[in-house]
Amino acid sequence: MKFIAGNWKMNGSRGALKTMVDALRDIETDNTVVLCVPYTMLGIDGGRASMGAQDVSPHAKGAFTGEVSAEMLQEAGAKYVIVGHSERRQYHGETNAIVREKAAAAIAAGLTPIICVGETMDEKQAGKTMAVIESGVRESVPENTNGKIVIAYEPRWAIGAGLTPTSAEIAEAHTLIANTLHNMGIGGTPVLYGASVKGNNAAEIMSIPNVDGVLVGGASLKPDDFIPIITSVK
Ligand code: PGA
Repeated sequence: MKFIAGNWKMNGSRGALKTMVDALRDIETDNTVVLCVPYTMLGIDGGRASMGAQDVSPHAKGAFTGEVSAEMLQEAGAKYVIVGHSERRQYHGETNAIVREKAAAAIAAGLTPIICVGETMDEKQAGKTMAVIESGVRESVPENTNGKIVIAYEPRWAIGAGLTPTSAEIAEAHTLIANTLHNMGIGGTPVLYGASVKGNNAAEIMSIPNVDGVLVGGASLKPDDFIPIITSVK
């Protein structure tokens, strides 16, 4: 069984979400399916899919204009929340320390954070990929996970670019993450791969050792693109 999450980013509409939910209703799969949508689309029953958000405040409540707390997400029907996505790190200056606080806030409210880590092109070219991944995991994962986290390895240079690392590179990254999590006492935590996953590469990527599923951006927006990914693996 695999874990397949869509990240709609700032795309879609409530109407598009209802179309997706209807299309997912009859698919035959045991895989876990999650749709991480903009805040305004939460509250719609995901049916076969669990709902998730794409960010959360590190604060529980109070004078933080524009922020949304983990408890509010939970009340709106979210079960998951992406934290530390590459675009949050790039455009909103999120560091591992902030990501860790957000993940802790999510866990405290009963949500499962999907914690993203991954290297930039500069870091890759400087030979720092493995160091960035390992410190990303060690510094972004809160002390007390309650068995409730998912990790997503997303090479930042490959997101939305139609590029993917080689299978050997994905295997190396995922083995490192699995070993790091084991050393942190939370072995068995699901680790997803994300960046340019499509219907034509999903099955191959999910056959790589230690790849427990995928986090899908662009190809999660339309049923015709997303359903083949979900049904490509058992
Ligand atoms: P992509 O995005 O599938 O469009 O590359 C992945 C992500 O940002 O999670």
